[in-house]
Amino acid sequence: MNITLIPESASTVAPKVDLLLYVLTGLSVFFFFAVVLMVAFLAIRYRKGAKVNRHLEDPDNKTLELTWTIIPTILALGIFFWSAMVFFDISRVPEHGLEVLVTGKQWMWKIQHPNGKREINELHVPRGQAVKLTMTSEDVIHSFFIPAFRVKKDVLPNRYTTMWFEPTKVGSYHLFCAEYCGTDHSRMVGKITVMEPEDYQRWLAGELTTAAAPASSGEKLFAKLGCVTCHEGQSPRGPVLAGVFGTTVNLQNGESVTVDENYIRESILNPQAKLVAGYPPLMPTFQNQIKEQDLFTLINYIKSLKGDKKSGSQS
Ligand code: CUA
Repeated sequence: MNITLIPESASTVAPKVDLLLYVLTGLSVFFFFAVVLMVAFLAIRYRKGAKVNRHLEDPDNKTLELTWTIIPTILALGIFFWSAMVFFDISRVPEHGLEVLVTGKQWMWKIQHPNGKREINELHVPRGQAVKLTMTSEDVIHSFFIPAFRVKKDVLPNRYTTMWFEPTKVGSYHLFCAEYCGTDHSRMVGKITVMEPEDYQRWLAGELTTAAAPASSGEKLFAKLGCVTCHEGQSPRGPVLAGVFGTTVNLQNGESVTVDENYIRESILNPQAKLVAGYPPLMPTFQNQIKEQDLFTLINYIKSLKGDKKSGSQS
């Protein structure tokens, strides 16, 4: 049997998390023994009846007090800033990652790759490349946890959360749901398979389960759901979507909002929530009418639209 203290370390952030953990553990062990040994020593030395000098020489020892104030302060602040840097590393999603959709559902993980390929309770990724997971849930709160990568994030209904990692070692790793989500929570597990980039490309190209790549199927959805009738053409009744992703738009209520995945998602499901200034509330809701995976495909399609809008919005 192979028992290890901590799981294998297989992502770029894993060694950073581990080092921090080792130092914290080391410091705790050191101070534990320092305190316990000191208590034991003093308890024995100054026990009742022992013939020792009980006279306090200097009740106001500045040097001692400064030492036990300054050293722990430096240690605590040092650990705070160090942890914050590791936390930022884990939180900051790199610009160019593989975009994978994760949908949690009682009790399984559904995965969709950039080319439309889908899998369940399994995620294949290439080694040495950043992978960005956009995650949502169809029911309750789940949590996507890959111990070997030292990453974990809650997966919530009605919104996207994102998480990223870059695998460093080829192999197979555990995937867990780390949030109690009902009867079969403990069985909501899966496997992450890290492959060499060439193998991954071969795997990705092989036996595609869905017909088309998301960009073109996104285009089809966009037409099928009738989005084109208002969001394209000569005199559109809704905002033109080309080039809108990542920009800031002004809303009817005087506020403004940055167009990101969550905003587009909300605007499809609940169009009246944050209405863009200058447009009437015409759009119907698509709540309960569009599946999570289709919704994501649609959002990716809108993201992929490059408009000539950019030139006009510079002033
Ligand atoms: Cu899903 Cu626990």
